[in-house]
Amino acid sequence: MKDVAVIGVGMTKFGELWTKSIKDIFVEAALKAIEDARVDHIDSMYVGCMSSGLFVGQEHLGAVMADYLGVSPIPSTRVESACASGGMAFRQAYFEVASGNSEIVLAGGVEKMTDGADVTEALATAADQDYEVYQGVTFPGLYAMIANAHMYQYKTTRKQLAAVPVKNHKNGFNNPNAQFRSEISIDKVLSSTLVADPIRLLDCSPVSDGGAAVILCSLDIAKKFTKHPIIIKASTQASDTIALHSRKSLTTLNSVSKAAEKAYKIAGITPKQIDFAEVHDCFSIAEIVVSEDLGFFEKGGGGPAAEQGLTALEGGQIPINTSGGLKSKGHPVGATGIAQVIECYEQLTGQAGKRQVKNAKIGMTQNMGGSGASCVINILEAL
Ligand code: COA
Repeated sequence: MKDVAVIGVGMTKFGELWTKSIKDIFVEAALKAIEDARVDHIDSMYVGCMSSGLFVGQEHLGAVMADYLGVSPIPSTRVESACASGGMAFRQAYFEVASGNSEIVLAGGVEKMTDGADVTEALATAADQDYEVYQGVTFPGLYAMIANAHMYQYKTTRKQLAAVPVKNHKNGFNNPNAQFRSEISIDKVLSSTLVADPIRLLDCSPVSDGGAAVILCSLDIAKKFTKHPIIIKASTQASDTIALHSRKSLTTLNSVSKAAEKAYKIAGITPKQIDFAEVHDCFSIAEIVVSEDLGFFEKGGGGPAAEQGLTALEGGQIPINTSGGLKSKGHPVGATGIAQVIECYEQLTGQAGKRQVKNAKIGMTQNMGGSGASCVINILEAL
């Protein structure tokens, strides 16, 4: 397998993009990435998208986006894995280059969620229809069960959960592409509307439109395009039961720990060597559980770590979600996994401005679908 590098990135602002269609959003991100990478063509592309059919009535996105980007007849494939669709598209692009099948590949992700579809119902298609959705459970409801179990098992407090969105909004304040660029306090989180006990409005990632794209090529030719290629050290994937009730534990996400174990092994590093991570904080509890399952903290240590500032940009042991995470940056589900890679790229090339992690050499992205039934992890390193 060839070594693979990321050589350019581009994304739209995340939020309600009322004047732009899903095609406009994807094309804007893709053109920015192509321009950033200074490539004059792409050989193939992958489009991560969870549910364009339900959100805007458009399927067949591989062909649609190749057509509107003006790159037909190159191979173009849509990848779906619920909220991990973007991360999975990136992983397919990685293998396309690593195998030698294509030289220059675009990995993109897009979602347009605010055009009037029933978002809660559309998102719930990523859960078990018979045993969860039909019984009335939604995603906030599923993560509320995980939160209650974690609070019971590890004495995680409501205040510890609130520390996650407070930190992520602080980081997102400095991200020009973020949907919510406002700082919030613990009190504001604790007094926000109850959505599914104990999850409150300010624990939730929002409903968003947005697109993101990156360009990959083999390391052999990367230096032709940029002085600062970012090498992909590992790209791994794992799955778990779709329904929560089938799991041995509600407080561990097996797909995350399995994909992480493999990623560390392939990259030949330990969790301590990761300088920063972009993780899937769809709800506050998700960031806490994931920070444990990635091996940054022991089980039950995620809540205290968030509260003590160990995941903060300034003075943190492992800065998490410097982009603002899904909570502040926004969560157009198909684009999220690619946007995480973009934050990694900006950090590792020293372009993150006020969000910059000092001496950032190795970054991680963790993107998951539904309540963790699918997970993709990437480890990226500055050369
Ligand atoms: N964080 C911060 N503010 C939010 C927000 C969020 N997640 N969601 C909405 N708001 C704000 C809106 O901007 C609006 O503010 P305004 O009155 O000043 O304009 C206000 O709250 C009400 O917005 P509205 O769109 O009516 O909220 P809603 O009740 O329809 O939706 C949630 C709120 C939490 C239900 C929705 O954001 C949600 O479903 N989030 C989870 C998405 C999800 O499950 N993703 C997949 C993860 S697996």
